[in-house]
Amino acid sequence: MSGPLLRLDTISKTYRDVTAVHPLDLEVGRGDFLALLGPSGCGKTTLLRMIGGFLPPTTGRVEIEGRDVTALGPEKRNTNMVFQGYGLFPHMTVAQNIGYGPKIAGRDPEQIDLDVVRMLNLVHLNAVADRLPAALSGGQQQRVALARALVMRPAILLLDEPLAALDLKLRKAMQDELKALHKAIGGTFIFVTHDQGEAIDLANRIVIMEAGRIVQQGTPEDVYRRPASRFVASFVGDANMLPARRVGAEVAIGGGRLPAPGVDGDVLVVIRPDDVTLDATCPIGLDGTLAECRFMGPYQRLTVTLADGTQVIVHRPSGADAAPLPGVGDAVRLGLPPAACSVVAP
Ligand SMILES: Nc1ncnc2c1ncn2[C@@H]1O[C@H](COP(=O)(O)OP(=O)(O)O)[C@@H](O)[C@H]1O
Ligand SMILES: [Mg+2]
Repeated sequence: MSGPLLRLDTISKTYRDVTAVHPLDLEVGRGDFLALLGPSGCGKTTLLRMIGGFLPPTTGRVEIEGRDVTALGPEKRNTNMVFQGYGLFPHMTVAQNIGYGPKIAGRDPEQIDLDVVRMLNLVHLNAVADRLPAALSGGQQQRVALARALVMRPAILLLDEPLAALDLKLRKAMQDELKALHKAIGGTFIFVTHDQGEAIDLANRIVIMEAGRIVQQGTPEDVYRRPASRFVASFVGDANMLPARRVGAEVAIGGGRLPAPGVDGDVLVVIRPDDVTLDATCPIGLDGTLAECRFMGPYQRLTVTLADGTQVIVHRPSGADAAPLPGVGDAVRLGLPPAACSVVAP
């Protein structure tokens, strides 16, 4: 089938006097692993619940596979949701939890048994199939919740911060598993997170929300390399933001010029710490003094103070063959490769 798998058309949600999601449009393609990324309270859960049919939108429509499903409940659309708190049935075993949805849907019992075994294999829970949820670790409970959603073979799997409750090591392991699952079943995932690193690692497309609006979308590289606003630049990764002025669609900085369409006035030049160089031949150069140098493991984090007091953070590799670094107090010339600079409103 052509066209997007999911299409949202001027969808919005107002709770009494709070507008959690302003009218927005969004298309999600078949096979996408899409991350909805934004700080707490920006409307991610509200949007996901409208896609899943758990919450009626105030305006707009939801189309799945070209069909208007706006008025349909969760069980009547080809989506399934993994909730933040897992929501497992405490009195049912792992296998029963996974088999419950297909049973309610009236699937053939023999087929259900086969599907449950297939899911147990997929999420590596064969050994604990007969346990109750209370006897499982957090990561195992998470995998049951995933299996329970996947066994319904939804066209779209909705995941609301599914890894937020796990400790860092387990979260990393589950991220790898989610990626592998997505590949193995070839489905479409919409994944809510407030963790930019997680979004960049997992998704092939990131949609960034701020205060109920989509403020940027693109590949992880797009949103990291080409932030459209100060908010995106600071929310996705570390960013240096250098005050400058735009005159005649150009920004003059460090002896060089950046093309920057837009009205004249104050702007910020954004550059990532890993893009700043110590290359004195760079067409854009800023003179400063090395104020601090911190060993961060895989990289050194340098703080350079410019003449006007602005601080610039620079990440340099710390591997065995890394170039030697200047000493604290030394004068340094920073290079800003023009292609790595973005210009945003202040
Ligand atoms: N049932 C509700 N009634 C009133 N306000 C709500 C309700 N649910 C969410 N909100 C508000 O809507 C906004 C977005 O919430 P939510 O979608 O949960 O954001 P997120 O998932 O990004 O943290 C917040 O300001 C929140 O307080
Ligand atoms: Mg939420």
